[in-house]
Amino acid sequence: MAMRENWSGRFGFIMAAAGSAIGLGNIWRFPYIAGEHGGGAFLLIYLGVVLLFGIPLLMAEIMVGRAAQRNPATAFRLLGGRRWGLVGLLGILTGFIILSFYIIVAGWTLAYVGFTVRGLLDSSDPAVLAGQFDTFTRHPWSPLVYAGVFLIVVLATLASGVRAGIERANKVLMPLLFILLVLLTIYVLRLPGAMEGVRFFLTPDFSAVTTATFSAALAQAFFSLSLGMGCMLTYGSYLSRDENLPFTAASITGLDIASSLLCGLLILPVVFAFGFDPASGPGLTFVTLPAAFANMPMGTVVGCAFFVLLLIAALTSAISILEPAVSYFVEVHGWTRPRTVAVCGAVCFALSVPASLSFGLLSGHRLFGMDYFTLVDFTATNILMPLGALLTAIFVGWVWARQARLALANDGRLHQPWAPVWLLSMRFVAPPAITWILLSGLGLL
Ligand code: TRP
Repeated sequence: MAMRENWSGRFGFIMAAAGSAIGLGNIWRFPYIAGEHGGGAFLLIYLGVVLLFGIPLLMAEIMVGRAAQRNPATAFRLLGGRRWGLVGLLGILTGFIILSFYIIVAGWTLAYVGFTVRGLLDSSDPAVLAGQFDTFTRHPWSPLVYAGVFLIVVLATLASGVRAGIERANKVLMPLLFILLVLLTIYVLRLPGAMEGVRFFLTPDFSAVTTATFSAALAQAFFSLSLGMGCMLTYGSYLSRDENLPFTAASITGLDIASSLLCGLLILPVVFAFGFDPASGPGLTFVTLPAAFANMPMGTVVGCAFFVLLLIAALTSAISILEPAVSYFVEVHGWTRPRTVAVCGAVCFALSVPASLSFGLLSGHRLFGMDYFTLVDFTATNILMPLGALLTAIFVGWVWARQARLALANDGRLHQPWAPVWLLSMRFVAPPAITWILLSGLGLL
């Protein structure tokens, strides 16, 4: 096999992993989930869940990849035997499913950058904007063209390789993302009425907390940290064995939480300043926000900056969702990178067609009471990813435990006083908790 690529250093890895973590999940999903689950109360629970499960599992995934220096399927097989290899394959498959609906929302975002620039969203009436959003997403091919253009950028980056493609893109785009995010947040917080939104976001309303709040927080944490499908495992496989894992995992998580908090402080104040409903679901980003932007001084600039921000976040995440599959076909089947990227891209695009059409032509068709888009989103987010995370925790906590402790301490070169606590969490805390979200997500509890 040709020399395997790796990151140029710690900064490159942290930027790439943060690029994976910070995505539509932080900007599009987090604020409305927080809105639905009682603002500040959700926030506290979310932080607890991230500390308790997010960071330990993130460490576990990176560690498995780093120890094996291989794609997810080979990594699990090398460390745990043939049958565990299936866990890696499951992750690779999950990646295709996630990307098939992820690029549709990313395509909408790309379209909305264009709409804002051309002044097409210039209405402050949510009903008008909801109509526009509907007309656009129902169109048989227009959203697919945008998704296709977005996918081509993802594929081109992946084809350039780990360092020249993935790392280089993230090193430029992630700092840019944070600059945009901070500038937008500062601007928005100075609007009259913005503090209402801040209060809503930060004041805990424990009466809105139910068991569903906990499972929503866990699912959001896994989605946001890109866990459970071998994404962080693959990025970890390009990491040097000398890096301090708890430190890198905490940095990635810190950046991810910071961006989610900033997004909450950006989006909820906008919603409140203009008197809209914070719990308006997925349409929050594409309907409520443009209506608020239209009311705002410099609204076009702000709206455009916002959708560019969303686009960058989606791009760096989408890149990471496909990399496990790319590394698998390159390493196991010996394909060249450009060829792999082309084939994976074609499969992904084909899968995204029904996801897009489920807003239009196929909108009447239901499976298990859901349209196709909702069904694949639900299957990936509520079943396949928790399942992947559960199996990873069991693997690291029970099958590979002794080596895992050594791997955490860089083969004894680092002192890791928290290693036993971490291992306990992998053994006894994470598996039951994840099983619980799996079952409650399926409505079985
Ligand atoms: N974490 C990203 C977000 O918040 C999405 C993402 C990227 C992802 N890679 C993943 C989700 C792997 C699940 C698994 O938008």
